[in-house]
Amino acid sequence: PDTLTFLGLESSCDDTAAAVVRAGPGGNTVLASVVAGQTALHAPFGGVVPEIAARAHAEKLDLCVEEALEAAGLALTDLDAIAVTAGPGLIGGVMSGVMCAKGLAAGSGLPLVGVNHLAGHALTPRLTDDLPFPYLMLLVSGGHCQFLLVHGPEEFSRLGGTIDDAPGEAFDKTAKILGLPQPGGPAVEREAAIGDTKAFKLPRPLLDRPGCDMSFSGLKTAVLRARDEIIAKHGGLPRQARADLCAAFQMAVADVLHEKSRRALEAYMALRPAHPALAVAGGVAANSAIRERLQALCAETGVTFTAPPLALCTDNAAMIAYAGIERFRQGHSDDMTLVARPRWPL
Ligand code: KG4
Ligand code: ZN
Repeated sequence: PDTLTFLGLESSCDDTAAAVVRAGPGGNTVLASVVAGQTALHAPFGGVVPEIAARAHAEKLDLCVEEALEAAGLALTDLDAIAVTAGPGLIGGVMSGVMCAKGLAAGSGLPLVGVNHLAGHALTPRLTDDLPFPYLMLLVSGGHCQFLLVHGPEEFSRLGGTIDDAPGEAFDKTAKILGLPQPGGPAVEREAAIGDTKAFKLPRPLLDRPGCDMSFSGLKTAVLRARDEIIAKHGGLPRQARADLCAAFQMAVADVLHEKSRRALEAYMALRPAHPALAVAGGVAANSAIRERLQALCAETGVTFTAPPLALCTDNAAMIAYAGIERFRQGHSDDMTLVARPRWPL
C-alpha cells in the first residue's frame, strides 16, 4: 500500500515512548507521540539506573500505547505494523519494548519491525523534511555522538564519533561540577549567555588529530580543575566565574563540533551529492551557540542545514515508527525471533 500507518515503541534509555506515524504520497504525519520520561525516578541516583529504567518501561509501555492510539483516534486494527527499538541501549528496557511489541503483534496479527535506535535518529530528518539520500547526519545527545553518512534507509557509514563521553554527557557533568541543575545542557547554555568565553583556556581535544573522532571527557576534567582553582583562590565559586567557565566550555564544544563537522563535510562532499545537506539531531542540537556555528559552516560550504523539531530530536517513538516504515518499504520485517540487542552498531 502507498500509505502506511505504524505504531512505534521506544524504551532503550530513560524515556518510555509510543507514537503513531502515517507516511504516504501526500507526506508524513505524526498522528500521536507520547513520551513518558523517567528523570524524576533516576534523579536521586545521579544517573540512569538500568534496573529502575527497565521496571518503569515495563509498567508504562502499555499506557503509552493506549494513550498514543487514543490521541491518533485509531485502533490496533487500523495500523499496518508495529515497529520497536530492538537496540542498542539498556538491555532491560529494550527487552521490555520488544516483548510489548511482540505481544501486540501476536494479538493483532500485524507485522513486527525491529528498528535500530540510531537509525531512528538518523532517519528523522526524512520524517519532517523531503531530504534525499545521501545526507550527512551529526547525532549529538547525552548518549550519542557520531557523524553518519546516510546512504539509504538501511545503509549508513560512520565517519567518526566520540571515543569517550557524548557532548550532552559533558554538558551534564559540567553542570554538576558547577552546581547547576540537570539536564545540564540548557542550564550551562543559560549561564554561558552572560559569561566571557575567553576568561578560561580550555582544551580542544583531538583537534590536532586527523579524522572525525572526538573526545569530551578531558574537557569536563579541565572544568573541574578550573573550578577547584577558583575555589582555592576565592573560597567559593563567584557567579561571574561560573558563567565564564560555562561560556568557555560551550565554546570549546562548539569549536570541536565545528572543526570535526568541517572535516566530515569534506568527506561527504567527495560523494558529490546532488542536494548536499547536513542534518543534526539529538538534545545538544538544541544549543543555539552550537547550532549557529554549524549553520554558518553550512552556509560557507553551500550545504543545506536542517534539524528536526526538538521533540523529534530527543528520544521519541515517532522516529522509531518512521524508521520502521522505511525499513518495511525496503521489504524487511521481523518475526517472533526478534531479539533485543544491547549493542548494535549501524
Ligand atoms: O537526545 P536527548 O534528549 O537524550 C539522549 O541523550 O538520548 O539529549 C539529552 C542531552 C542531555 O545531555 C542534555 O544536557 C543535552 O542533550 N542538551 C543540551 C541542550 N539541551 C539539551 N546540551 C547543550 N545545550 C542545550 N541547550
Ligand atoms: Zn537516542
